[in-house]
Amino acid sequence: MSALTLQSTLKLTSGAEIPRIGFGAYLAHEEAVYDALKAGYRMIDTAEFYRNEAECGRALARWIGETGNKREDVFYVTKLWNDHHGYSATARAIDDSLSRAKLDYIDLYLIHSPLSSRDLRLETWRAMQDAVKAGKIKSIGVSNYGIHHLQELFGWPQLEIKPSVNQLEVHPWLPRKDIVSFCHEHGIVVQAYSPLTRGKRFKEPVIQELCRKYANKSPAQILIRWSLQQGLVPIPKSNDPERIRANLDVFGFGISDDDMAKLDNKSYSPVTWDPTTSSL
Ligand SMILES: NC(=O)c1ccc[n+]([C@@H]2O[C@H](COP(=O)([O-])OP(=O)(O)OC[C@H]3O[C@@H](n4cnc5c(N)ncnc54)[C@H](OP(=O)(O)O)[C@@H]3O)[C@@H](O)[C@H]2O)c1
Repeated sequence: MSALTLQSTLKLTSGAEIPRIGFGAYLAHEEAVYDALKAGYRMIDTAEFYRNEAECGRALARWIGETGNKREDVFYVTKLWNDHHGYSATARAIDDSLSRAKLDYIDLYLIHSPLSSRDLRLETWRAMQDAVKAGKIKSIGVSNYGIHHLQELFGWPQLEIKPSVNQLEVHPWLPRKDIVSFCHEHGIVVQAYSPLTRGKRFKEPVIQELCRKYANKSPAQILIRWSLQQGLVPIPKSNDPERIRANLDVFGFGISDDDMAKLDNKSYSPVTWDPTTSSL
């Protein structure tokens, strides 16, 4: 684990490489996305629902223009909202996302949640497969999918492109070992959203203890490092330039196995929504 660096990547089933950490753009300003790229993040996680795809695209274009980096240097993720499931609505939503961000392609396109119906989810996947064939998207995946939703997709006879990613809320108070293990067994990378528990668990005694032990690391750094050591891809968000930088300073230390065990628990405390349990 000590060999992990900011440049480390994981290979997706699509063949693409995903950075080990990304910048979560929900409620993030354009300037914060730009600051994140300047700080060294090479993945932006946005969504139709966040209403900031245009801002993310502008921040990316500005950073490319000012630094001479290339579009291919950044892994751009966006997501399909629940009311656009179905073949033609998805095809339109993909084109709309591309045009809002002024991009030629999306690195990873996710179904934001399974909250529609079996038929709509599978028609959505068909449209996403076609968008990959058309060169609009490099990799496709899901978010907030439970094991039963993934099995539905794996059992679908028209499945040609397997999901590369499942983006889930995961942190020590929501470890989701069942879904994470299922994903890893199937080569699906798990992106961990709300990896900082939106700050709700920063004062937990175990977090405070580890902050003192690891040379005054912050609660955010302990939680991000936990996520990395679980084999997850954390996507912390911040609008503060100093915290944006500090949240990347997680590659110079490692949490010991004993201390990882202290963070190991079986609790179920989401800080956001939980569509993984939906029976729709
Ligand atoms: N697929 C989904 O359904 C889904 C759902 C939720 C989130 N997400 C994705 O995951 C990303 C991250 O999740 P999130 O935004 O819910 O929560 P988060 O990253 O766990 O926490 C963000 C909060 O923590 C604060 N924060 C960040 N760094 C900090 C630090 N070093 N010290 C103290 N406070 C700090 C931020 O405030 P400041 O901005 O003031 O720093 C913000 O209030 C989202 O932006 C989004 O991209 C996906």
